[in-house]
Parts: sequence; C-alpha cells; structure tokens
Amino acid sequence: MRTIDWVDGAIELIDQTLLPQRVEVRRITELSDLIADIQRLAVRGAPALGVAGALGVALIAANVQAQNESGTDLDREEVRRQAATLREARPTAVNLSWGVDRALTKLEEGADAVLAEAIRIRDEDIAACISMGLRGADLTRELASKDRVRVMTICNTGSLATVERGTALGVIQTLLEQDSLEEAFPLETRPLFQGARLTAWELQRMGAPFRLLIDSAGPFLLSRGIADAVFIGADRIAANGDSANKIGSFSLALAAKHAGVPFIVVAPESTIDMRTASGADIEIEDRGVDEVAGFGGVRTAPDGIGAVNPAFDVTPHDLITAIVTERRVILPGRGESPENVSLEPLRS
Ligand code: MRU
Repeated sequence: MRTIDWVDGAIELIDQTLLPQRVEVRRITELSDLIADIQRLAVRGAPALGVAGALGVALIAANVQAQNESGTDLDREEVRRQAATLREARPTAVNLSWGVDRALTKLEEGADAVLAEAIRIRDEDIAACISMGLRGADLTRELASKDRVRVMTICNTGSLATVERGTALGVIQTLLEQDSLEEAFPLETRPLFQGARLTAWELQRMGAPFRLLIDSAGPFLLSRGIADAVFIGADRIAANGDSANKIGSFSLALAAKHAGVPFIVVAPESTIDMRTASGADIEIEDRGVDEVAGFGGVRTAPDGIGAVNPAFDVTPHDLITAIVTERRVILPGRGESPENVSLEPLRS
C-alpha cells in the first residue's frame, strides 16, 4: 500500500496519526484538508511531503479548472496563490517547497501536465528509495567490516515517510532482505512517538528483528557498543552537508562520534538544498507546548506551563560519516560535500 497517491482524481493518504491502532486511508479533495493533514502530521516525513506538495498543486489546478465557469483558460495566478499557502504548511523539510515548485514548472502547459509531473515525482521517489537502500546497505557492511550489522535509528524514515520503502529504514529493509540485519534499535522519538508508533509497526510488518529504545537510552547504549551504525533521514541538507532531522539526531551523532560508530544520513537528492549554505540557516519548526505536556489526550505536565518544542535539530557535517542519496555517497569526514561530489546513475 502506498503512503500517498493520486487515485481517481483525488489524493489518498494513510492517516499516520491513527497508527499503529488503525490503518485508515483519507481521500483529500480540498487544499485546506491537505494543509491541515500536513500540519497535524497525518502525512509526514520529508519525501512524502515532497509528493504531497506536488500532488497538492495538481489538486489545486484541477479544482481551479473545474471552478472556471467559462471552461476556457486555467487561472494560473489563482493556482500560484493557493500553491504558496501549501508551500508554507511546514517550514523545515525542503521537500515540500521543492515538490510544489517542481509541479508549478508545468503550469503553463495546463492542469494535466501538472498532474503528470506530480506522478513523475511519486515514481522517482519509489525508484530513489530502492537505490538508497542498495547504496546504504553496501556502505554499511563496508564501514562496519561485517556481513551482519546492528543499527540504531530515530523517528520514522520508512515507507510511511516516503511513497514506499523509505530512506534510512529502507536501508534497514534492504539489509534484512540481504540477510545482513542482525538487529535494529529504533528510538521511540518523543514527543509524537514516530519511532514507537510508526517505525516499530513497519519493522514488525517486515519481520525484522528489533527492540525499541527510549530516546535517552540511545547515546548511552552506543557507548556500550549496541550498534554498528546509526542511520537517520533528513529534512534538509545544507550545501556544506549540515543536516536537519528529527530532534534527538544531534545527540545521537555526538554519541556515535564518541563511540566511534559510523553516523549515516540517508536522504534523496531532493532533500539537498544548495540555496541553504549551512545548518545555521535552516528554519526549525517549533510545535508548541501541547505536544510536550501530554500525549493522546492525557496531560502529563501541570496546566499553564510553557515549553520549547523544536521538532528538528541540525547535525553539523563534521559529525556525519556519510550522506547516502540515490545518486551518490558523500563522505563529509573526508572533506566531501554536496558541492563537490558528482552524481552517479540510480541503482535498481
Ligand atoms: O515531524 P516529522 O515526523 O515529519 O519528522 C520526520 C523526520 O524527521 C524524518 O526523519 C525525515 O523527514 C526524513 S523521512 C525519510
């Protein structure tokens, strides 16, 4: 089942807020519902947001076309105006604006061309995840000098964060398929538990050996040698290799460095933002007090308190052993960055 897709004239997506208790598909026909679903994390994860952005522009164009009483020209200015609101739905993952902008490049050719481009983005995402999985699995065995590896990961970077398979979790799936996965250690990922709710669900469905960790156990257990590598996804990779990802990634990178464990970022090329020079320039979404003060309708903190709730942090490039995309492996520790490593063909 695809996490997000275009089905019979509408966007269909799995409502991730209901997992792991219920698998429910939502059918989206209005832009306001798509924006609300992005903001409440019914659809989430950088690559899935890229596809949501592109399909969202296709939806806008189709709706504007349908409302056009004269039935003639598509009101392109109106499409652009609505697309600008979609682009701003969440600020950190560059894939959202990338997907919107890429779909808009076809606007002059009409609504059908916009939809065709959005479908192309969906299909490219599927192929990219396969290629990242293969590159990442080879690299991990090489770095760990082992045929079977134990890996730690945070948040959800699986099929739910993409269209199918995933980025960092896609590498774990590939390792499993190649009989190279000894065990996976997902962190639960406070405050919204993407690791406990979504990654554990996906690992269980794929039949992977794994044990769940609380977030604060990750750095300590790395120091005790529990894992051969740490894999994370990314929401935005700056031109110098600094990488924004789910809050908690930076602490894992520091601990991995301390323990001498490879720290690997897995993300598609669309997550690399060459217009952002370094991590200091990345806007970090703060999601407010309610997510910190309780979960699932249960209040855990006193009423009336404040909270700082950054949804993401930034890992500096010098803590990153490798950045794996569908088209290349970048080794920041050897002075490499997205600026100076050339692209290779996709692997399949
Ligand atoms: O707030 P979320 O759940 O959208 O955060 C997602 C992450 O941080 C992922 O690790 C990242 O988007 C990469 S997904 C392949």
